[in-house]
Amino acid sequence: MRVLVVHGPNLNLLGERQPEVYGSETLAELDAAIGDGAGKLGLEVHCEQYNSEGRIIDALHAARSAYAGVVINPGAYSHYSYAIADAIAAIGIPVVEVHLSNVAAREAFRRVSVTAAACRGTVSGLGSRGYLLALRALSEILSE
Ligand code: DQA
Repeated sequence: MRVLVVHGPNLNLLGERQPEVYGSETLAELDAAIGDGAGKLGLEVHCEQYNSEGRIIDALHAARSAYAGVVINPGAYSHYSYAIADAIAAIGIPVVEVHLSNVAAREAFRRVSVTAAACRGTVSGLGSRGYLLALRALSEILSE
């Protein structure tokens, strides 16, 4: 079973970007951990990172014929991108949203996720292990 992981804007700077909020792991290290975790679940995973909204939407559209499900961290787009929310709703495969930080405990604007409303569920505030939990949930959803 193939799963796509999409990292949104600014996540290419993981490791150097506000490590007190997002941790010290780089995106390459995170993707390696995601690959290991996916392997243990018997999933084939592919990770991509895009800073622009349109490229995230294009990746979601392409995923519908190539992947069984998607794990996405839309970054700040979570809080206002109806276009990404519409793309998630349009593709007809399960999507799980992940946030490294606990968005419920941060600024007011981060407490709303318009993209989460289109997803099967959300994992927030558990750091990089959130991606592994999301993959596990996706694997169970896909085998139901
Ligand atoms: C984030 C939370 C967002 O509010 C923020 O804009 C990000 C990262 C997270 O993973 O905690 O870029 O999605």
